[in-house]
Amino acid sequence: MKYSYIATAVGITLLSMGSMAMASGEDDDDDDKDKDNGIPAPTYDFRTPSDEKVELGRNLMFDKILSGNLNISCGTCHHSLTDTGDGLSLPVGEGGSGLGVTRDTGTGADLIVERVPRNAPPVWNLGDRSFHTFFHDGRVTAVGGGSFPSGCKTPAGNNLPSNLENILACQAMFPVTSATEMAGQAGENSVADAAAAGNIAGPGGVWEQLAQRLQAIPEYVDMFKDAFPGDVTSAGDITYAHAANAISAFEGVQWRADNSPFDQFIRGDKKAMSKNARKGMKLFYKGDDNDQACASCHSGLYQTDLEFHAIAMPQIGSGRGSNSPGKTGGHEDFGREQVTGNPNDTLKFRTPSLRNIALTAPYGHGGAYNSLRAVVEHHMDTVSSLYAYNSKRQAILPTHPALDAENYVAMDDPDRVDFIAAHNELPPFVYDDEDVDRIIDFLNALTDPGSIDLRSDQDVVNGVASGLPLDD
Ligand code: HEC
Ligand code: HEC
Repeated sequence: MKYSYIATAVGITLLSMGSMAMASGEDDDDDDKDKDNGIPAPTYDFRTPSDEKVELGRNLMFDKILSGNLNISCGTCHHSLTDTGDGLSLPVGEGGSGLGVTRDTGTGADLIVERVPRNAPPVWNLGDRSFHTFFHDGRVTAVGGGSFPSGCKTPAGNNLPSNLENILACQAMFPVTSATEMAGQAGENSVADAAAAGNIAGPGGVWEQLAQRLQAIPEYVDMFKDAFPGDVTSAGDITYAHAANAISAFEGVQWRADNSPFDQFIRGDKKAMSKNARKGMKLFYKGDDNDQACASCHSGLYQTDLEFHAIAMPQIGSGRGSNSPGKTGGHEDFGREQVTGNPNDTLKFRTPSLRNIALTAPYGHGGAYNSLRAVVEHHMDTVSSLYAYNSKRQAILPTHPALDAENYVAMDDPDRVDFIAAHNELPPFVYDDEDVDRIIDFLNALTDPGSIDLRSDQDVVNGVASGLPLDD
């Protein structure tokens, strides 16, 4: 008897109904009890920006004009052809060439300086106001009470402009300031020089320089005027914050994914999900025989509490660096601790949303797992899975010998692996293989059919407003 919660949680009436259903060989689900099982209500809360803003955002998302060396766009790492990520464990940023899993790190003088140290997350449903925390370590969050002019708490403190419209727009301020992602290395261009000098928000800083580039392109000026009527009336009114607002409009509207079988089910179509997926949904939200549930972290409509947890995820790649005593090699990624400085946050990462999860391998903050089954199985016994990982060496392709040396630094060092294990806070689950199969059936039911083929996003294939070439 797997569903021990039936007896403990909702009493004898449901228990007998459950047994009757099973005795007659029928579905043992009880759809009326979804609420008791923690299954969320369809409480969507999407922003609805104007078409003009979305269209401007579409151009900016794929336009290399926002990168220092004019060689990479947001869309290079969040592309329609790779389901709003890049299909890689760790992105090949500024200086690389090509798209998706074939994106190349270059060779010789063109070899990129470093890979981006974390996996590029997908961008599904982020136009829903409930998403208040961004990045694997949550360094961009929405805060009320007027403590920051923008309404966002970020590494930029009070320097963030006050005309940002929402938290997703606040996020879009940052990739352009990163040498590895978009700006380039000092000495290569004036945007990179400003970034390297720490001049992000000041006169001649990164944001002002990018705004000036946009102001100089008449097609963009017209688009900004249409997108921000009354606010932008001439080229000089355009700021990079306007660009960020438009990008957030595009992301939120175009990559909305709320028509999965799961959505249809919670909106009332009880036949939208298969019996197996419904069983998996109950296991996911309600828990195992010890009442430990996926949904204790992956809660609610988007399967995330937007909080931080340490689940012994293997660490690959160069790491974001850490200043913790004894761990100064720079090859760790301590996640949330790097934002709060609180040792209780060491190795905690934000719970990811699981929408369209079947489409967005590889998984984990460093892209350590290539398959959905592998990352779910990791959760079953995180510490054993971490120790077993060493020998598996799941490939992070493509790569280059000169960068390989840093790819497994943490996992090749037994002390570091012990350190990750010691911080784990997720006890083993007591699901059997069949339960895991059902949970994966549920995760597959989180795929919106409209997200499978996103080529229509590529309305920009005819070009972006700057006239710069798109990624091949
Ligand atoms: C070189 C690859 C790369 C480029 C270019 C890039 N990103 Fe990202 N993006 C990432 C990575 C990696 C992360 C996660 C970083 C972290 O958590 O520390 C991320 C995070 C995000 C997130 C947060 C998602 C979440 O769930 O927290 C959004 C939204 C996003 N990027 C949008 C953009 C936009 C908009 C641009 C252009 C202005 C952009 N990205 C450019 C790689 C990239
Ligand atoms: C203690 C909180 C917690 C519980 C319980 C939990 N998870 Fe997770 N899960 C996380 C965190 C945190 C991550 C990201 C870890 C990282 O990147 O280092 C994650 C990552 C994932 C991922 C990969 C997502 C991605 O985009 O990379 C999947 C899939 C997943 N969890 C499914 C499950 C399933 C299924 C269960 C139940 C069997 C479960 N989780 C239980 C916290 C939890």
